[in-house]
Amino acid sequence: MREFNAVVLGAGGVGKSALTVRFMRDEFVENYDPTIQEEYRKTIEVDGELTWLEVLDTAGAEQFTALNEIYIASGRGFILVFSLALEASLREVTSLRQQILRIKGENSRVPMVLVGTKLDLTNEREVSSAIIQELAARWKIPVYETSAKRNWDVREVFEDLVRQMREY
Ligand code: GTP
Ligand code: MG
Repeated sequence: MREFNAVVLGAGGVGKSALTVRFMRDEFVENYDPTIQEEYRKTIEVDGELTWLEVLDTAGAEQFTALNEIYIASGRGFILVFSLALEASLREVTSLRQQILRIKGENSRVPMVLVGTKLDLTNEREVSSAIIQELAARWKIPVYETSAKRNWDVREVFEDLVRQMREY
């Protein structure tokens, strides 16, 4: 069985842990408990092939972001998370992507998925689909609008990343 590791990155409170835990345990984390660092492992089947996946859920909090360098250097694939209900969180993924390309090499193809969270919070939405689609096209990476609460498009995110990690 092939093994891959993925790193979940994004600003504080955007829903990185909720997304990861929804996928790993099929539970929704209602209470906000800021992460320091958490690792999850699971075997998943994608396109009929079993894969051993390790996921590192990182801290969005400012005081831990120095560790991102290390996580990025050792990570194979990346899930860039922002909140659809917080426009400012898009800036964070922009700078994280730059950091990834700097560390991995500007010309290397790095498995990456852009993820907007909290799609269920319709009335709080601040980021339009058009903006995200434009960004994803420019970056040439897939984008998903998700809800960990409702379990919308969560599995698809991880499957997409596994497919990319198999390919390059
Ligand atoms: P840090 O660990 O501090 O970086 O935050 P995080 O990105 O891991 O955020 P976390 O997953 O802990 O979620 C923060 C808050 O948002 C929690 O109260 C979650 O319940 C809530 N939340 C996360 N995802 C969703 C979602 O899809 N819908 C709704 N309604 N709330 C969500
Ligand atoms: Mg967290």
